[in-house]
Amino acid sequence: MKVKKLWIAGAIVATSMAANVQAEITPRHALTGEVLDLSYAKKGGNTEAFKQFLKTGKNPYNGDEEAVKQGHDLYLTGCSGCHGHEAEGKLGPGLGDDYWTYPRGLTDQGLFEILFGGANGMMGPQYVNFNTDEMLHIMAWIRSIYNGDPKKAKWLK
Ligand code: HEC
Repeated sequence: MKVKKLWIAGAIVATSMAANVQAEITPRHALTGEVLDLSYAKKGGNTEAFKQFLKTGKNPYNGDEEAVKQGHDLYLTGCSGCHGHEAEGKLGPGLGDDYWTYPRGLTDQGLFEILFGGANGMMGPQYVNFNTDEMLHIMAWIRSIYNGDPKKAKWLK
């Protein structure tokens, strides 16, 4: 009897450990809720950082000074024309405040979903311009300029 119980306990631990390893986020389109097809992604973006992001839903580049700097350079090549040089807002909304048309932008998963899959009108899917690792860099820069209420910063939790 004892042995059997132990065996069951062991099996439960093993299963939950396996589940932990496989735990992955499922990025979905910000408007349709459809699962995003990451096979559309530009080559070169499946880095260790991106793999980690897919497991945890957290952007490993947040707060990384070098990544933030590179993120701003990338942002200037593909986003600033619509969102303004410092993301103060232009054709597209400002990205540094705590107002979000899509509140999912308050999490790293949600921000990635808006970038990768796009939203309405001129906010097209950004996978045509940036690979997923570059998107994480841009996202880290966007977090770095945040000037809203710190309590609303869900990505810090
Ligand atoms: C051609 C113009 C254009 C480009 C280029 C563009 N955007 Fe946008 N973006 C928009 C518009 C317009 C909206 C508003 C769309 C909506 O409300 O559905 C938007 C919305 C967004 C949102 C949602 C904001 C919110 O309040 O929920 C984010 C985040 C965003 N853009 C980030 C980016 C980033 C990062 C890039 C570069 C990788 C980028 N955009 C490139 C025009 C653009």
